[in-house]
Amino acid sequence: MALAIKFLTETPHALAQLKKEQDMIRSRKGKSEALEWNDYKSMPFTQCVIDETLRVASTNSGVFRQAMTDVNVKGYTIPKGWKVFVSLRAVHMNEDHFKDARTFNPWRWQADSGTNSMSLFNPFGGGPRRCPGAELARVELSIFLHHFVTQYRHVVLDSCRRRSVGVLSNNKDAKAVSHYRAAPGNLERLKPRKSVELWMGA
Ligand code: HEM
Repeated sequence: MALAIKFLTETPHALAQLKKEQDMIRSRKGKSEALEWNDYKSMPFTQCVIDETLRVASTNSGVFRQAMTDVNVKGYTIPKGWKVFVSLRAVHMNEDHFKDARTFNPWRWQADSGTNSMSLFNPFGGGPRRCPGAELARVELSIFLHHFVTQYRHVVLDSCRRRSVGVLSNNKDAKAVSHYRAAPGNLERLKPRKSVELWMGA
């Protein structure tokens, strides 16, 4: 979630398109009416934002596997018992498969973008040990982003700009930030007046 906010903040055009999609969904519903499955299923651009966030900066960089027998991969033998680290990040950052791989570009996932790298996109791993929480994670991210863009404004504090941390506020005067101070460990604690506190890694 934090990384999605970071990328959206740095890509205002994507944030605007996401907000438009989510505002449309909210406009069909009562102010505090909960989202339903049909709403979730009508967020194509939001799913592109989630996919691209997971591609560029998934917190999980890869998966381990153990060879149960000698395995031959393109002429190399992985002996029985060896543990192998499959770097999902290396695949997701491979320029051969993802043009301008280091750029956050949610539009690359749009159906008409001509992308053919879907089979190489595995932020949740693969096979029988694939993450069982994959769909739950997507739903949670979608619901979070819905409320984030339809109810709050996100302001990056000047003093934090280089670290990409910011303040989440449902207060019109979101700039009325009282203070922010370093918290123990790597976290920064942002404590805006009359707003939601947001903690992000520095
Ligand atoms: C964006 C969020 C998430 C990411 C990127 C993620 C990613 C992963 C990855 C890469 C694996 C290893 C899969 C493999 O070995 O092939 C994994 C395993 C697992 N994940 Fe997730 N996950 C996420 C959210 C969740 C959630 C929300 C839950 C549960 C509510 C969950 C539960 C699990 C469990 C139990 C495993 C172990 C599966 C096994 O070893 O059989 N994950 N996850």
